Amino acid sequence: MTEDLVLPAPRQAATAGEPLLKVEGLTKHFPVKGGFPIRRTVGAVQAVDGIDLTVNVGESFGLVGESGCGKSTTGRLITRLLEPTSGSISYRGQDITHASRKQLAPIRSEIQMIFQDPYSSLNPRQTVGKIISSPMEINGIDPDGGREKRVRELLEIVGLNPEHYNRFPHEFSGGQRQRIGVARALALEPKLIVADEPVSALDVSIQAQVVNLLQEVQRELGIAFLFIAHDLAVVRHFSQRVAVMYLGKVIEVGDRESIYTRPRHPYTHALLSAVPEVNLADESASPRERIRLAGDVPSPISPPSGCRFRTRCWKAQDKCATEEPPLIRLSGNHEGHLTACHFPEDPTIEARDEDIVLDPALAALEEQLEEDGGSTTS
Ligand SMILES: Nc1ncnc2c1ncn2[C@@H]1O[C@H](COP(=O)(O)OP(=O)(O)OP(=O)(O)O)[C@@H](O)[C@H]1O
Ligand code: SF4
Ligand SMILES: [Mg+2]
Repeated sequence: MTEDLVLPAPRQAATAGEPLLKVEGLTKHFPVKGGFPIRRTVGAVQAVDGIDLTVNVGESFGLVGESGCGKSTTGRLITRLLEPTSGSISYRGQDITHASRKQLAPIRSEIQMIFQDPYSSLNPRQTVGKIISSPMEINGIDPDGGREKRVRELLEIVGLNPEHYNRFPHEFSGGQRQRIGVARALALEPKLIVADEPVSALDVSIQAQVVNLLQEVQRELGIAFLFIAHDLAVVRHFSQRVAVMYLGKVIEVGDRESIYTRPRHPYTHALLSAVPEVNLADESASPRERIRLAGDVPSPISPPSGCRFRTRCWKAQDKCATEEPPLIRLSGNHEGHLTACHFPEDPTIEARDEDIVLDPALAALEEQLEEDGGSTTS
């Protein structure tokens, strides 16, 4: 346990662009129990396996990957809801990896979380006023003019009617409930918000509104975000930098332009080609490539040797099974753009001559359909 944790005064100003959160070698293995009659640890779910990332003051950092790749576990480690297996987490230059509740008290209010499901994350028996003022009560914060005034201001900031102070969550739509969740996260004037898929449970038409609200909050209040999403479309306009995760590892990270227009990792290419509107905003951009990413991610209990993506990668060679590719700046990458791949793609998202189908079962099905189609027309 860290005994001499000395954090800066909680409200001390932080300078934009400086590292706020730094994560190094962060690892979380969940034990798998088995055996009878004595249950023993027979393996481990390698949910997060040695990731490095930095979120700067006021920056929005996107963390993207398919279901089960370890995004939520990363968010929960950073907010100290989970204890890491190894690695370190530092916040404003202080190591908080194993800090106790008491040691974390001065900064607890600075790191807040917004959850995916606005239905289950709000207490249905509490009024909106109570839900949003609770964090202030728990932390003994008495804003000028009182808590009720502050809650009404927060309701206004998130685009809700301050008169709704006494209403209950069931009286609101999904998008409005997520706005209540945002107001609650803002109540303590955080410096970092970990938003775990904050719009995935919402209708597509509402998603953009909530993302816009978060973007305003980030820009106008200077709050840094770790924005977790399962596809690259959601974070595209929100995040200045993006990290792509696969099976517990960060496989590519870089500024927005590098990730969306000059990706090098085959998996990033595959994720991008699954984003239908990726080039709609930019008519001058080249037509997008065609890769269909299908099939399941391998089990994190026994991930593939070497490169974890090799069982789904169209470029895999023998070396990929024996040597884990390091996350490095490849020649041609912009500064800060790191890729973990032995045989990276060219830095372009131009269309390919032929589709790449990553799932053998899907490929077989398509072949079958073609054959069937062919036989009925002949
Ligand atoms: N408490 C736990 N005990 C055991 N395994 C866990 C636990 N929490 C998560 N896992 C496993 O760790 C892996 C990563 O889970 P995690 O929830 O972090 O993924 P995710 O990227 O957030 O996925 P999703 O997009 O579905 O939310 C998964 O295989 C999951 O089953
Ligand atoms: S290291 Fe090999 S298997 Fe992994 S992404 Fe690169 S080419 Fe594919
Ligand atoms: Mg998750």
